Amino acid sequence: MGAGTIEALIQAARTARERAQAGFSKFKVGAAVVDEDGRIYTGCNIESASYGLTICAERVAVFKAISEGASPLVCMAIVADTAQLTPPCGACRQILWEFLGDSELILTNLAGATERLRIGEIFPRPFDSSFL
Ligand code: THU
Repeated sequence: MGAGTIEALIQAARTARERAQAGFSKFKVGAAVVDEDGRIYTGCNIESASYGLTICAERVAVFKAISEGASPLVCMAIVADTAQLTPPCGACRQILWEFLGDSELILTNLAGATERLRIGEIFPRPFDSSFL
């Protein structure tokens, strides 16, 4: 992934984070995913008064991309305001594996720290459609 695309992804994730509906946890997260054609789709976490209905930023971004006709997804940036970079939760790792495969993830925070890793590194031995 080129440096320009990564910068654009991080910026898109930061902008999306500002739209988070995180009134219960106060923990705002933004995500941005890019497809093979360079199109970017964003997500933020959206919390519900029925807490279990809350959805993470990462899944919002993936589901928006799929529903809007994205080509294969190739990279995602995730931003939160934590010193230790926030990784995707377990549920999101499953969805990321299914829709991005072993793509690159960029974890980042508001201070500008970044880490690049592959989904397979944090989601070993996945269950997916190959078993069905
Ligand atoms: N959250 C995300 O959106 N993504 C993550 O990677 C971690 C957790 C959200 C869910 C909930 O709204 C809040 O952060 C606290 O768990």
